[in-house]
Amino acid sequence: MIEVLLPEGARAREAFGPDGSAVLYPGEAALVATAPQERREEFTTVRGCARRAMADLGLPPAPVLNGRRNVPQWPAGVVGSMTHCAGYRAAVLARDTDLVAIGIDAEPDMPLRPGILESIALPGELAWARTPVTGAGRVCRDRLLFSAKEAVYKTWFPLVGTELDFDDARLSFRTDADSPRRGTFRAVVLRPGTGSDGRPVTGFAGRWLADRGLVVTAIAVPAPDGAGHPDR
Ligand SMILES: CC(C)(COP(=O)(O)OP(=O)(O)OC[C@H]1O[C@@H](n2cnc3c(N)ncnc32)[C@H](O)[C@@H]1OP(=O)(O)O)[C@@H](O)C(=O)NCCC(=O)NCCS
Repeated sequence: MIEVLLPEGARAREAFGPDGSAVLYPGEAALVATAPQERREEFTTVRGCARRAMADLGLPPAPVLNGRRNVPQWPAGVVGSMTHCAGYRAAVLARDTDLVAIGIDAEPDMPLRPGILESIALPGELAWARTPVTGAGRVCRDRLLFSAKEAVYKTWFPLVGTELDFDDARLSFRTDADSPRRGTFRAVVLRPGTGSDGRPVTGFAGRWLADRGLVVTAIAVPAPDGAGHPDR
């Protein structure tokens, strides 16, 4: 499902339930040794997804530990992102010669709990997110906004290394002409930073879709000469 949101060079693997064949490395198992069963299952299944994506890139399997602020630690030369929510786990990886950063997020396509939208949305976003969409293009816009902001953070943090609050990025969305439950979004970072490659980071372009009771968002930042670059 998520692969339709991604450029060339990215490798996506996903699961819609627990993967009993996924196995953790000792260092990974130590991170969730005392966690509830549900957390251990999502952590294990998504790492199974990550290892299948590594294989798709022609790489040997490797542990995915958590670094500062829980940022996933990928093998050298690899960028990626992981997400899990009820009924869905996904990992997207790429070589850093193709993409410099990836951020993905999945959420149930259900309204946010009362009060959450007001705490994550800027005024213009609030009006958009409160406008209901029914019929063929039905999607919970408040949840879509939330998911896209999470994808922004997961792209931003590994790239820039600083925190980003919900009111630090202004998002706007479009719907594809040929597919009313799929589209694009733009994130303008109101407090720009500098990426690990020395380039300014002022915003991101992403894609979204609503399907199978889920809202899924993805951002892939192309490397200047990589396979993920739109002009290549
Ligand atoms: C970290 C955060 C984005 C995770 O999102 P979530 O919807 O709660 O959870 P998901 O299941 O989708 O994603 C979890 C995965 O995110 C990844 N992740 C966690 N911290 C991360 C970070 N600092 N940078 C990048 N990825 C991170 C991990 O791979 C994690 O999986 P794991 O725990 O199995 O290793 C969220 O909890 C958070 O802290 N948000 C606040 C910051 C924010 O969103 N700001 C908005 C800016 S516009």
